[in-house]
Amino acid sequence: MRTVQHKKEAYWFYRFLSIFYDNFVNPFFWTGPMRERSLELAQLDRPDLRVVDVGSGTGFTTQGIVRQIAPENVACIDQSPHQMARAKAKNDLQGCAFHLGDAEDLPFPTDHFDRYVSAGSIEYWPEPQRGIAEAYRVLKPGGVALMIGPLRPQNRLGRFLADTWMLFPEEDEYQRWFREAGFSEIQKRYVKPSWVLREKYGIAIAGKKTQPGPSPAPLPAVKKERREEPATFTRILLFIPRLLIGSLAGFFFIPMAIYGYLRRFIRGLFGRAPAEAESVETLTLQQKISLALIPILLLALLAWWII
Ligand SMILES: C[S@@+](CC[C@H](N)C(=O)[O-])C[C@H]1O[C@@H](n2cnc3c(N)ncnc32)[C@H](O)[C@@H]1O
Repeated sequence: MRTVQHKKEAYWFYRFLSIFYDNFVNPFFWTGPMRERSLELAQLDRPDLRVVDVGSGTGFTTQGIVRQIAPENVACIDQSPHQMARAKAKNDLQGCAFHLGDAEDLPFPTDHFDRYVSAGSIEYWPEPQRGIAEAYRVLKPGGVALMIGPLRPQNRLGRFLADTWMLFPEEDEYQRWFREAGFSEIQKRYVKPSWVLREKYGIAIAGKKTQPGPSPAPLPAVKKERREEPATFTRILLFIPRLLIGSLAGFFFIPMAIYGYLRRFIRGLFGRAPAEAESVETLTLQQKISLALIPILLLALLAWWII
């Protein structure tokens, strides 16, 4: 398992990341156009559908859901109180129900929701198959589950950083987890922000539950991890390097995104901007400032080196 693909580590990772998440980090990697394109697969076609958003974080995906579903019908669940506090403060999410809890052990009855959505959370779950089996269990027959997550990078540096940080599954793994959980009519779409050139960056995958009851997925009887595990000496010894190394590897994705945007900007100057204009997101003020500062810093470094 990867360094931050653990419940305790993910909890502390978001204890700090939640401060920058909405304004700086998230808009580089999970954009409005990606969210809209993915949510189409969830078939949110009636405002009275009962929807659960798992790993709802600061509520960015939930904000997309409540454009189509009445907030009173939306339940959000996340293991991080720090992320959730930010979602709770958002005007458009007033009326949603907020639960602190674990994606691998949902505090909801079987056959309860019409739709299950989870965006960008599976990569932190120690047992993704268990989380997807839970998606199946809490859905009513006829219900649809949508999972959005990253795909394993193709280039060696990206793969090394991704593998050091958290779980970036292969497309086949998503397909297999959905099939083994019991879902049918499985559909998928690739999603990516405009700074990424390759097609396979992230995937939105959806499936339908046809039979009532729990998932037939073969799972070990005992869960691998609980967030509230006792803090033994070995656990603490593992926790510190995992959190530090994982966070550092994750941090490297930010300069990669900034480089991607600069590359897109320079290509644009030479008339080689990407054709898919509908997928081009708007940058936040904080991101525009950092984009402007990076070349200035590089030039300053170069000048300092030459002089
Ligand atoms: C990248 S954020 C995604 C947030 C949100 N879905 C969005 O669209 O911006 C991942 C979220 O998953 C949550 N998470 C990680 N592991 C979890 C688990 N086992 N159970 C519930 N939430 C979890 C984290 O706390 C974090 O808020």
